[in-house]
Amino acid sequence: MPDIIPQITPEQLAVLEAYRKSHSEQAESSWDEYWRRHLDKDFYSAQDGQHMLVTGNTGAGKTQFLLNLVNDYLKKTDHIIVWLDCGKSSELANLGRMKKLRVYVPEGCDMEIRVSPDYMDEWKGHEIIKFRPTQMTKLWKGMSNKYINVISLLPYILTNVTMYVDMIGKLFSRLVVLAQREELTGRIELFCDEFHLICPEKVNQLSDDHYQKGTIVVRNAEMIRSCGIGLKAAAPAVTKVRQAIRQCFTWRGIGRGTRFLDDDDLPLKENNKLWIGLKPGEFFIADPNKRFTDKPVKVKYWGEGRDVAHVRYIGTLNGESDEPLDEAEFTEVAEVIA
Ligand SMILES: Nc1ncnc2c1ncn2[C@@H]1O[C@H](COP(=O)(O)OP(=O)(O)O)[C@@H](O)[C@H]1O
Ligand SMILES: [Mg+2]
Repeated sequence: MPDIIPQITPEQLAVLEAYRKSHSEQAESSWDEYWRRHLDKDFYSAQDGQHMLVTGNTGAGKTQFLLNLVNDYLKKTDHIIVWLDCGKSSELANLGRMKKLRVYVPEGCDMEIRVSPDYMDEWKGHEIIKFRPTQMTKLWKGMSNKYINVISLLPYILTNVTMYVDMIGKLFSRLVVLAQREELTGRIELFCDEFHLICPEKVNQLSDDHYQKGTIVVRNAEMIRSCGIGLKAAAPAVTKVRQAIRQCFTWRGIGRGTRFLDDDDLPLKENNKLWIGLKPGEFFIADPNKRFTDKPVKVKYWGEGRDVAHVRYIGTLNGESDEPLDEAEFTEVAEVIA
């Protein structure tokens, strides 16, 4: 995977270095204490759903950041974790080390997870459940906090992103209806990596239809919040995500190379020079008041997952090819789409 390292001027680097220096001398415990309590109370355990957008260029550590959030939610809450599968080995392989996976695969397609013998002890187990994409109510009602629930759609619809977004739109709409009727079995935390595929800004749309379908997600993102459902999304740039939904993400995970351009993000926009030189796995966290941590948080690195388990996606939904894709092929296509 190409690692796009932004051009950092010596001046920009000096800003970050000076910032680091001035904060590292502060009492470590007071910083930790304040943000730990703030996050526990107002993010993880808040009454309303909390939405967070994690940004940073390729290799900034966004996927790893999301994995860390899942792990935190498992430890701190009894919320139901739902992960939308983007088809990279680091996802399912690492999630399967945290809790048993229940992977929802569309009918007509299949999945094979081969766990490496070296990780058998750590692996929490998995089961594969087939679902009919037209029966999303059943899908949502089956979600449980006994598992990490994984919905695999994108790996089976590679060449037709519009079809994917259409399904995600329906998935979101169904979720809102069920939440409003109080028919869900618990609070849901929805994890959505590569979110720009679902809700692209107009310049990044693949077709008008692609953009239009994203509208449904925009409409529903705000609704699910008041139903106690949180959305955690990641994208390579703030501006790749449709503007109408950006402010819905009141929390931000700010990784290497993030640039804020909206005036709504003013205090963050003024500090763009600060994030450009971050290292992979380092993130500032900003809260709904746009206050941000006074030093970057270092997230745990879970690894690439290839040594843990191998995931094979079998079949496609649009029926263009019945050859199973191996992971390398998949990653190639996913990168083209991104
Ligand atoms: N916490 C971390 N510590 C050290 N390296 C990290 C950390 N998180 C990520 N990395 C490095 O960054 C690379 C990309 O991480 P990833 O989460 O896939 O980034 P992204 O999703 O932003 O493209 C990893 O392969 C790893 O080498
Ligand atoms: Mg990623």
